[in-house]
Amino acid sequence: MIKLAIVGTGGMAHAHARSYEAIKGCKIVAAVDVDPKRVEAYAKEFNIPETYTSVQDLIKHSDFDAASVVTPDAFHVPCALPLVKAGKHVLCEKPLAPIAKEAKKLVDAVKKTKVINMVNFSYRNSSALHKIHDLVAKGKLGRIMHFEAHYLQTWLTSPVWGDYKTSPQWLWRLSTAHGSKGSLGDIGVHIVDLTSFACADSIKQVNGQLKTFKKVKGDRIGEYKLDANDSSFMRVELNGGGLGTISTTRWATGQPNSLALLLYGDKGAVKLDLDKSYNEFEACMGKDVKTATWKTISCKNTPNMWQRFIKSIKTGKNDASDFERGWQVQKYLDACIASDKAGKAVSIR
Ligand SMILES: NC(=O)c1ccc[n+]([C@@H]2O[C@H](COP(=O)([O-])OP(=O)(O)OC[C@H]3O[C@@H](n4cnc5c(N)ncnc54)[C@H](O)[C@@H]3O)[C@@H](O)[C@H]2O)c1
Repeated sequence: MIKLAIVGTGGMAHAHARSYEAIKGCKIVAAVDVDPKRVEAYAKEFNIPETYTSVQDLIKHSDFDAASVVTPDAFHVPCALPLVKAGKHVLCEKPLAPIAKEAKKLVDAVKKTKVINMVNFSYRNSSALHKIHDLVAKGKLGRIMHFEAHYLQTWLTSPVWGDYKTSPQWLWRLSTAHGSKGSLGDIGVHIVDLTSFACADSIKQVNGQLKTFKKVKGDRIGEYKLDANDSSFMRVELNGGGLGTISTTRWATGQPNSLALLLYGDKGAVKLDLDKSYNEFEACMGKDVKTATWKTISCKNTPNMWQRFIKSIKTGKNDASDFERGWQVQKYLDACIASDKAGKAVSIR
């Protein structure tokens, strides 16, 4: 039985608990939150025996094997690093850290302790994405020439997930002082991972633009200065030569959570729309290229990130969505921020 701890018991921690509950061979034995009321309510909801208000107390007093880190972005490294150093396996929420330099600390630490380490790139739960990656890696689409990807959300215009003006869960996402890299760091991290994984390639250079729109008088709500970016655009060149755009926004009225990728090679193309399906995509390949005919391809379910994490612990074989990958994606996001500041393209180092 793998004994788990959940660190950070806010909104997303509910998905972690529900997902672990559905997996045989693991159980949640402890929960941690700096807010004592929240951690108690969460422990009651999921029948978790132990609660703590710091990672340090958890490590000192609890007997556990692995942890999910589900705190706001700024606390991923401060919480995950002591866990890794204590020899615990860690599934960390995305982004691994607000900047690549911080993420690298975790990469160095897991190299030493050899614990299983994963970043919750949840759109890898799409079997269609894995199939597209395989097709591209096998050359079925030919050379990747062009791509267009977006991740759109609407929570600044519609209260579909609650009112951002009164909810700390959304307010910390709007404030750089609270460790947020805005829409780029929050959802750009997903669509950049998804796109470069689908292209089976790494990014060579990025030309980025970020924008923070005025939302409230004085650009401040209580302790939160609303200065993190709301929208991001990246013009991207892959190491294999392909060119494309990746964009994100929280101002996409009418789109609660929409991710899509159009990917064009010189021998085939695919359209992935996660609003429609995680397990299907459209493809124009092989002899259909001549007639520009598109067909739907259906794929079998792929294990979700929690199942992959537990399997990685059991087999000792780390899933590909590891801290190294989290660090790599963070370098792409850092390049977008640097490019926005410099007003020119920035190469990935
Ligand atoms: N993978 C996904 O698709 C996905 C979706 C939503 C959120 N997330 C990520 O999950 C994380 C949490 O997001 P959320 O919406 O649940 O936020 P939230 O604000 O609802 O919850 C965060 C919780 O962490 C607690 N916390 C803060 N500092 C802490 C610390 N040092 N130690 C322990 N607890 C601490 C807070 O009190 C709060 O209860 C973020 O990193 C976010 O990017 C990922």
